[in-house]
Amino acid sequence: MLYKHILRPILFRAAGGDAEAIHEFTLTILALLGRLPLPAMRDPSLEYTLFGVRFPNRVGLAAGMDKNGVAIPAWAAMGFGHVEVGTVTWRAQPGNPRPRLFRLPQHEALINRMGFNNASSSALAARLKALGSPPIPVGVSLGKSKVTPLEQATDDYCASFRTLYDCGSYFAINVSSPNTPGLRSLQDRAQLGGLLAALQMINTRISHARHSPPKPLLVKIAPDLSDPAISELLEVCAEHGVSGLIATNTTLDRAGVAGHLRAGEAGGLSGRPLAGRALEVVRFIRREAGPGLPIIGVGGIFTPDDALRMREAGADLIQIYTGLIYEGPGAVRRIARALA
Ligand SMILES: Cc1cc2nc3c(=O)[nH]c(=O)nc-3n(C[C@H](O)[C@H](O)[C@H](O)COP(=O)(O)O)c2cc1C
Repeated sequence: MLYKHILRPILFRAAGGDAEAIHEFTLTILALLGRLPLPAMRDPSLEYTLFGVRFPNRVGLAAGMDKNGVAIPAWAAMGFGHVEVGTVTWRAQPGNPRPRLFRLPQHEALINRMGFNNASSSALAARLKALGSPPIPVGVSLGKSKVTPLEQATDDYCASFRTLYDCGSYFAINVSSPNTPGLRSLQDRAQLGGLLAALQMINTRISHARHSPPKPLLVKIAPDLSDPAISELLEVCAEHGVSGLIATNTTLDRAGVAGHLRAGEAGGLSGRPLAGRALEVVRFIRREAGPGLPIIGVGGIFTPDDALRMREAGADLIQIYTGLIYEGPGAVRRIARALA
């Protein structure tokens, strides 16, 4: 109530309505708050273990909100059971020109074409190492640097993976952002197979050297793939020992926001209009892959009911991004409790 009726209207109007400026401001405040001794939410009845990682609850912060991992303790205090930091790339990069983030409040949606603005995987590794043992599991989302040609994408992902190996509870292989040219073609059989094989080779080598289990690798997919393309991707993931799927990233489809002034902006659409398709994709993956494959469901989750629907569709964990912007931080605990 306080957020939706008082804080949100102020935030949405501040800085002349510049959504990215408010995002940066909020992140700075959260990073500062995170320096205080804030307790993380602990309730044993909410805990859940998936791919060998113990999560304090089933709700995570989706990738892209805290690309450089600056506010991890604050996310834990807000009630999140994990944070996916990144997407990071091997090289630091500024992302696309601004403006590149748009709110569509009538639809409770966002369109973004950030383009992996981030301080690099080595900068993230340094920050996570300085943080020490994080209060909640940290997943690390890996992407390709814009300047790296697509044919060398594997080297780019592998360099980031090696650099960040000790910092992540799991790694999300992001081959589904619409904002890096060609990135989504890495979801194709041959390219994904080559990428996963290279990453798993590194995983095996480092885990043997450390006498520790290999890191769970998850693949994050686009909602715009056809059913046959998802089936093929699932086969490739199974062949390469992938630990789970994250479904879904933002969509290029604009049917849910047709007629809106901003509907024509290039980029990925997230929030309410994505919910139906994200549910469909999760349901499809669960049916195809059977009960054993871990799935993180993400896309248009705003309320406990949305989250329960995503669980029913087959997701083990859920993540939110746009829902946090529209519903406020209280949504995190509400959803986490509903998923007990
Ligand atoms: C501004 C913005 C930036 C994002 N950046 C990333 C990213 O870097 N990597 C990624 O895998 N997903 C990224 N996403 C996608 C989200 O993680 C999520 O998959 C998507 O927004 C759907 O969830 P939602 O409807 O709860 O927002 C981004 C989303 C938004 C709105």
